[in-house]
Amino acid sequence: MSIASSSSAAPAVAAAALNWAGRLWFAVAVFGQAAFIGFILAYYGVRTATGNFAGWNDKPLIDGYVEGDPMGNVVFAAHVLLASVVTLGGLMQLIPVLRRRWPGLHRWTGRVFIVIALFMALSGMWLSLVRGTSLSPVSDAALLINAVLILIFAGLAWREALKRRFDQHRRWAMRTFMVVSGVWFLRVGLMGWVVVNRGPVGMNDTLSGPADIVLTFGSYLIPLAVLELYFAAQHSRHGAVRAAMATLLLLASAYTAAGVFGTIAFMWGPYL
Ligand code: HEM
Repeated sequence: MSIASSSSAAPAVAAAALNWAGRLWFAVAVFGQAAFIGFILAYYGVRTATGNFAGWNDKPLIDGYVEGDPMGNVVFAAHVLLASVVTLGGLMQLIPVLRRRWPGLHRWTGRVFIVIALFMALSGMWLSLVRGTSLSPVSDAALLINAVLILIFAGLAWREALKRRFDQHRRWAMRTFMVVSGVWFLRVGLMGWVVVNRGPVGMNDTLSGPADIVLTFGSYLIPLAVLELYFAAQHSRHGAVRAAMATLLLLASAYTAAGVFGTIAFMWGPYL
């Protein structure tokens, strides 16, 4: 192969590497989010369906089921059970083959996803601010910012779809996916940190250790930053930029896989 042809092939190789690294990360995320959905249904779903509401507290929670607080318990139940629906809806929206083959389904799951995402943010704010479920001021602040971002991004994704500006819609929809997944990223981020460091370095029980603070705000700010870099790399004409982004996504996939393993092994598995 001549030098000229190998150098002209390099950008295409970098573009393919970026594409495959993106798919790899998404495949790991699909597996990890499916485990999250499975846990919610097997733990909260089964206990709620059998009327064992007090059983929500079989695992460590801040409040969960509180005797004599019917309103708080109903909002908590709706919040945790709809968490499985919003997570499934977000995944379905991002799977290209579903979008291409069944555009009508994409529109309906999109509407359901956005309405439930808005409910998740509002019910989460209600649990924090009205019910008073709180771990520490830092983690409360991080969650409230997450809620506000869900409200703004979901609204923008919807608006762009209505205005038929599909490139902008795709961007806002992916940003919405990242912030709606913030709670999942938080668990994966915390457990990934524990797995990588072989212990809870810089962490404490109220999520206010130095590593906790980075990971609670990072649970949506880091995925959003990586997403913006991904958009920029997709539009870059430089093979080196795409290759660097592909490498970053490989590292992100490895960390996410470690975190998914940690959530299943330490956070959810022991309570099923
Ligand atoms: C769409 C994103 C969200 C999902 C998927 C989600 C999911 C969950 C899940 C699964 C639980 C049960 C806790 C557990 O088993 O560990 C939970 C509880 C809770 N969530 Fe969310 N949540 C989301 C957004 C939010 C937001 C934005 C806030 C705050 C503003 C929030 C506040 C809470 C609170 C206060 C609890 C109760 C914790 C306890 O009593 O221990 N959530 N959420």
